[in-house]
Amino acid sequence: MIIERAGGAEALAALDGRARGRDAWSVSRFEALIDDERYRLTGIAATGTQTLTAFAVVSIGPFDLELEMIAVDPDHRCQGLAGRLITAMIEQGEALGLERILLEVRAGNEAAQALYIRYGFSVDARRAGYYPQAAGEREDAILMSRPLTR
Ligand SMILES: CC(C)(COP(=O)(O)OP(=O)(O)OC[C@H]1O[C@@H](n2cnc3c(N)ncnc32)[C@H](O)[C@@H]1OP(=O)(O)O)[C@@H](O)C(=O)NCCC(=O)NCCS
Repeated sequence: MIIERAGGAEALAALDGRARGRDAWSVSRFEALIDDERYRLTGIAATGTQTLTAFAVVSIGPFDLELEMIAVDPDHRCQGLAGRLITAMIEQGEALGLERILLEVRAGNEAAQALYIRYGFSVDARRAGYYPQAAGEREDAILMSRPLTR
């Protein structure tokens, strides 16, 4: 895994906790990701600081790049940080000659779906009850993809 400009498992887990609450990954899960060469991580620090404000994790397959996670600190949202990370991911996939970017998102996560549509993703399918919810309930996943020009 490559960490550009900002990162470290503890900083990543702390930011993920602020961004996603109970869904956030643990420090040990981020440590395992950092040690796994299948994954790439890009972080953005606040201007003039080393404070992590946004990050994205992707996995790279033979044909596709998959967005595993994107998170922006609640205090730094709506400033284009996620857009910068998505743009970097598209450029990375194109540089590698890959065909598509794939992702899954909770059906109720309207902000993330709007982000993905803004950057050229479209809906491929819906997977019923894919995500666990509070109180034993389940939430559907929306499967999206974006073609890459090679
Ligand atoms: C979704 C998330 C990553 C967006 O980050 P962000 O840095 O605020 O997004 P940007 O400022 O780059 O916005 C880019 C586009 O996304 C869309 N968007 C972002 N937030 C939105 C919101 N709350 N409502 C509607 N559209 C939104 C808009 O189309 C926006 O384009 P515009 O600025 O031209 O209107 C952020 O809200 C977040 O971290 N959420 C929690 C984690 C999460 O849900 N991750 C995705 C699932 S893994």
